[in-house]
Amino acid sequence: MAKFYKIITYGCQMNLHDSEKIAGMLEDKGYLTTADDNKADIIVFNTCCIRHTAERKALGNISAYKQFKESNPKLILAVVGCMSQQPEINKLLIDSYPFIDIVLGTGNLAAFSKAIDAKLRENRRTSWRRLDEKPIIDEGYPLVRTSGANAWLDITYGCDNFCSYCIVPYVRGRERSRDDGLIVKEATALIAQGYKEITLLGQNVNSYYYNGVDFAALLERVAKLDGDFRLRFLTSHPKDLSEKVVCAIACSEKISKFIHLPVQAGSNKVLASMNRKYTREHYLSLIEMIRNKLPKAGITTDIMVGFPGEQDKDFQDTLDLVRQARFSSAFTFKYSRRKGTTADQMEQQVPEDVKKARIRELISTQNQITLELSKDYIGKTVRVLVEDKSSRAGNTLCGREDTGRLVNIEDAGSRIGDFCNVLITHTKASSLWGRVASE
Ligand code: SAH
Ligand code: SF4
Ligand code: F3S
Repeated sequence: MAKFYKIITYGCQMNLHDSEKIAGMLEDKGYLTTADDNKADIIVFNTCCIRHTAERKALGNISAYKQFKESNPKLILAVVGCMSQQPEINKLLIDSYPFIDIVLGTGNLAAFSKAIDAKLRENRRTSWRRLDEKPIIDEGYPLVRTSGANAWLDITYGCDNFCSYCIVPYVRGRERSRDDGLIVKEATALIAQGYKEITLLGQNVNSYYYNGVDFAALLERVAKLDGDFRLRFLTSHPKDLSEKVVCAIACSEKISKFIHLPVQAGSNKVLASMNRKYTREHYLSLIEMIRNKLPKAGITTDIMVGFPGEQDKDFQDTLDLVRQARFSSAFTFKYSRRKGTTADQMEQQVPEDVKKARIRELISTQNQITLELSKDYIGKTVRVLVEDKSSRAGNTLCGREDTGRLVNIEDAGSRIGDFCNVLITHTKASSLWGRVASE
């Protein structure tokens, strides 16, 4: 009889990619994917803990499965990922969530398959959270891809930056760069399999370094591979983004003219306290350098409000930087205290109502800029990789153009997975709308 699995993923693209590895292990064991809880033999929660809200959401959803498990005792429930890598949460899940069968941190994902065997053969519960320096799972493991025409490709694991607010270095371990030869080999195979976009992944791709190969060199090598594909990468850290990388982007038609460059704050005092290791002046000089070499580049960012000690004048510096940088869009967050990080120990934590007011003002400032930039697209033809059905309207598809903007395409026919030229006809709020241009 067929056996089924369901994976519920929280968090970032790295976690989504890890879920593809878990799916690979399960399909290797003969399980098939399902979206239906009632049909599933195994349900896996791949969790995130970047902010308190992410953790609360995951724990809340997991608790909701207690009764479901009681009525379906053969169901295997597993919690993996960043949230369960934390010692106190790992212990909480084991002690107070007896209906959970497997609890693994990011460091032990490779043991997932063995943990399933232990449950099936001996009804044994498994809990591990040792964070070693190995890759997240064994290299070269077959994975099940779920992101359409795009394929994620890890280039580094972990992070060494220890930004004072951030839990990632504690739950993903030290930075490790993967073998460049292996990355190029995997990219070659993905192109041969027909993937039209490759996204290189790392918490700070710019610090990639393996046997004398740096990120710019790696980017050039992958971009030179034969085939019709687009190359993207996430995430760049402003302290490490070099002119060499920007030149590599400018020199290759295959590399998307898109850079996600999280600034976090516009005040030098806050940046120093965040341990970001750059100043607002350095950040703005990077923006200028990018705009000089790549005049059409789309630059996006992450910004946090309410970091400990952030005063109104610091927040005004952030707004001012946002107005100068003219980001295509920004992910905005209210600072959230994370246990074990140095910022959690800082005095002068900012009250919630102040954070709320600041984030509202920040979003409205950025929305205005996004709207203005969107208007410049009207009447232009852009090249889009059609990725999916749009959530907006019936016969509409959507995809990203070369500078990273999402485009809704009316009456696009059956072009999912193809590159196509789209004439932008109008904007709705900040989103771009168009139709297929005559070819
Ligand atoms: N490695 C990437 C981002 C990783 S986390 C980088 O360095 O930019 C994604 C974003 O979550 C961060 O850029 C930051 O803006 C936000 N973030 C991280 N920790 C946070 C916290 N404690 N509270 C609120 N936002 C946080
Ligand atoms: Fe977190 Fe900073 Fe590392 Fe990004 S660079 S993952 S924000 S510690
Ligand atoms: Fe990603 Fe969340 Fe972990 S943002 S690295 S899944 S803490």
